[in-house]
Amino acid sequence: MQIDIVSVFPEYFDVTGLSLLGKAQEKGLVTIRAHNLRDWTHDVHHSVDDTPVGGGAGMVMKPEVWGQCLDDLLGMPDGPTQQQPPSGQTANTADVNGQKEAMKRSGEKSDGTAAEADSPADSYKAGAAGPVLIFPNPSAPLFTQADATALSRAKRLIFGCGRYEGYDARIPDYYRNQGVDVREYSIGDYVLNGGEVAVSVMLEAITRLLPGFMGNPESIVQESYTGDEPLLEYRQYTRPTTWRGMTVPAILTSGDHGKVDRFRRDEAIKRTSRIRPDLIARLDCPTLDKHDRRLL
Ligand code: ADE
Repeated sequence: MQIDIVSVFPEYFDVTGLSLLGKAQEKGLVTIRAHNLRDWTHDVHHSVDDTPVGGGAGMVMKPEVWGQCLDDLLGMPDGPTQQQPPSGQTANTADVNGQKEAMKRSGEKSDGTAAEADSPADSYKAGAAGPVLIFPNPSAPLFTQADATALSRAKRLIFGCGRYEGYDARIPDYYRNQGVDVREYSIGDYVLNGGEVAVSVMLEAITRLLPGFMGNPESIVQESYTGDEPLLEYRQYTRPTTWRGMTVPAILTSGDHGKVDRFRRDEAIKRTSRIRPDLIARLDCPTLDKHDRRLL
């Protein structure tokens, strides 16, 4: 997977070289490049924002700078066209900022042959090379584990980090109209100073699902929000079995795997029902058996 991040603070993403994500890059599972949006400015002040049209507080990120930047990253250097082919085919034939080099390193074909699906939205699901352009935005739909799973199958992601009061609304609209798969996501019902932290969150949620990322892939299968039943995870314990007078539930030391599984599932259902009733409401009911339902 190739990931490009555009920000006025690209240093935020220096940390992506650390820990498991750093190792994933060494292994060639993912290539991450952080770009400074100001590199696409032409004025002496390298300005990226302006006052909101219609008045109001704060500043809004300008469309021209983003446009030049994203045209370059997407391989649309000639600017607007009436009808672009599906974005994967456009971007993959371009050698922008050494993209072909990066693709070679990540084992991706650079001739654009991987784009198989008819629409950009389908192409990344099919594991093809169509880039997905993602903007964090507190006023957008919530980013979920299902989104992370779907996006982990993309070959290329481009994140655009907004700052100030956000970015001009025509930026995502324009690229959507050009046939690019554009997503806007909020990571929670609170407001951050900019998109960088939100991108870090999405980046981690997505990349840890890449095949080969986790030493033990089983640890992903059992997690909260995963699979057809997005339940909160049951509570975990380790040794010693008694600590400061508190003993782990006896059933977990019984050696009866059937009973352990049942206990954990009960716990997951009860916890989800209490802490996140919204998740239970979204559960596909046929997956809950009679026993499960009595716990709700
Ligand atoms: N930018 C500012 N706040 C945000 C949030 N909650 N989610 C995504 N992007 C943001």
